[in-house]
Amino acid sequence: MAGKSVLIAGATGYLGQHLIREAKRQGYRVRALARNSDKLAHLDKFIDDLFVGEVTNPYSLNGICDKIDYVISALGITRQKDGFTYMDVDYQGNKNLLHYALSAGVSRFEYVSVYNAHLMSKLKIIEAKEKFVRELIASGLDYIIVRPTGFFSDMLEFLRMANKGTVYLFGDGRFGINPIHGQDLAERCVAALGGTEQEILVGGPKTFTHNQIAELAFETLNRKPKISYIPLWLVRAYLPVMRLFTSVKTYGPIEFMMTALSMDGVAPPYGKEKLKVFFEDNALASDSRQ
Ligand SMILES: NC(=O)c1ccc[n+]([C@@H]2O[C@H](COP(=O)([O-])OP(=O)(O)OC[C@H]3O[C@@H](n4cnc5c(N)ncnc54)[C@H](OP(=O)(O)O)[C@@H]3O)[C@@H](O)[C@H]2O)c1
Repeated sequence: MAGKSVLIAGATGYLGQHLIREAKRQGYRVRALARNSDKLAHLDKFIDDLFVGEVTNPYSLNGICDKIDYVISALGITRQKDGFTYMDVDYQGNKNLLHYALSAGVSRFEYVSVYNAHLMSKLKIIEAKEKFVRELIASGLDYIIVRPTGFFSDMLEFLRMANKGTVYLFGDGRFGINPIHGQDLAERCVAALGGTEQEILVGGPKTFTHNQIAELAFETLNRKPKISYIPLWLVRAYLPVMRLFTSVKTYGPIEFMMTALSMDGVAPPYGKEKLKVFFEDNALASDSRQ
């Protein structure tokens, strides 16, 4: 893709950082959007031009898409606690970017949403993401919607729980998931820019049950497995109560995690990265005994 330029939004995140490296590797000129440029200092050699701006302040984005061919947005709230809502960031922040993409004549806008969104449409995070998806489709701009399963980074929660002694699973632990490494997903996202796909459902190369991921976490830490099961009826009863008594900042990430892990999440497989290796690489960080 020599000569083409891509803007990466959500560039400072887990996926975003892989997108930066991968876009450069595939020959793109890379512009990265960050609100805090220090977070990308270590990726300096992969970034041609760093744009400092706040998606929640549209005026700070002026010129963001000038001379840009493609936008990839991995922008969204996952576990941040900075006072913004999903509607502020996942919806309105992306919409602000879309505005500049349209006026600058960008060729394609690729947006990273979530796998199984249609089964979780009542969740606050999904409401915001899918509202943006509809806006993007209606905009007339060529688009790609990426719907990945859980990222390897999120699977670290299993490692953290194992490190504390017990992994808690929903149901009987037999739901399936093929989580994906940021590098594999970035490769799939960047390669799609030059193609014709409009929706990409994607997961990692290997499907696990939640029990198997828990066992892998214990094995990595060299600990005896201890798994506790939370019945699905309890999850279903708990979520509405939590919504009543906490703010969206508190219940949003929890309801997403509990709902996404109370169903199968197996998408068409892609990539080669292994969860076992990822766990081993991250085991020291999660091990408070070290
Ligand atoms: N993690 C998963 O398992 C998973 C699975 C499927 C889909 N997704 C979706 O994929 C996308 C990327 O996920 P990820 O795990 O890479 O997320 P992440 O590591 O949390 O990164 C999120 C990105 O969004 C930016 N952001 C968040 N709030 C912002 C705000 N108020 N103003 C400006 N920027 C803001 C962050 O910037 P700062 O660094 O400045 O905070 C960061 O660049 C998300 O939209 C997520 O919902 C994630």
